[in-house]
Amino acid sequence: MQIVDFEQKGRVAVVTLNRPEALNALNYQTMTELSALIVQIDRNPEIAVTVITGAGRAFAAGADIKEMAGRDVADMYLNDYFAGWDAFAACRKPVIAAVNGFALGGGCELAMMCDLIIASDKAKFGQPEIKLGVTPGMGGSIRLTKAIGKAKAMDMVLTGRMIDAAEADRIGLVSRVAPHDELMTVAMEAAETIAGYGLPAILAAKEMVGRALELPTTEGVRFERRLFTALFATEDQKEGMAAFAEKRPPQFKDR
Ligand code: CAA
Repeated sequence: MQIVDFEQKGRVAVVTLNRPEALNALNYQTMTELSALIVQIDRNPEIAVTVITGAGRAFAAGADIKEMAGRDVADMYLNDYFAGWDAFAACRKPVIAAVNGFALGGGCELAMMCDLIIASDKAKFGQPEIKLGVTPGMGGSIRLTKAIGKAKAMDMVLTGRMIDAAEADRIGLVSRVAPHDELMTVAMEAAETIAGYGLPAILAAKEMVGRALELPTTEGVRFERRLFTALFATEDQKEGMAAFAEKRPPQFKDR
């Protein structure tokens, strides 16, 4: 049975992790379906933005502990058990995590692979792996530290404590918090706003902000300048600036 649901709403893909009986625990099948789907979305010219959420009371309560429990080091290492998540994180189009409930361990790490995190006011975040005798394994130690800094990341990773949406907002882990019942409306509004722009600028914007976390400042500024300059070869740049001068809405063509 399929775990990951997909629906296209205009230029927005809505992806739902649908294994609520296990709090959407991220098993191998979920990773495989989700990474294959995101590659298709990336290649689909009709989709500009993805919103990912979870069915039931969790976004995702982590990697599937029951599936991992019996594995040994050779199995984990040689089969590169989490490799599919790198494919997910490599998506060039923006992905919005609409975090509807628990985002723990791999669930928090999945949210952090996304570009915007919009959290329900009932959402809970945490990296509780230490309680299982392990550590974050899907990028949490690095993405969390870059997102919220050492002091808060150490607190979450070493104590394994859960934080609520208000704290996540205060420490900069999430982009916005929405009332629980309005979560998908707020996430879709953000997605549609982004999807209303031209894809060349959307991709460039995502890429340059992503690179900002990896590059020294001078290199990052150069990288930004190269992409900014390249956008002057697009019809969308001509249209966007002409529309401003003519006081009319732009008609972007993704060209
Ligand atoms: N893996 C497998 N199954 C999980 C799961 C997980 N990560 N999280 C929850 N489930 C299952 C439970 O086993 C339970 O199944 P059964 O009904 O068959 O027993 C079902 O989902 C509902 O969960 P609970 O009964 O535990 O629900 P609760 O409301 O009492 O507690 C919770 C909710 C606090 C989130 C609790 O489920 C929990 O602590 N889950 C584990 C969280 C965790 O440790 N995540 C990290 C996983 S390791 C990891 O992610 C590694 C990495 O970095 C990649």
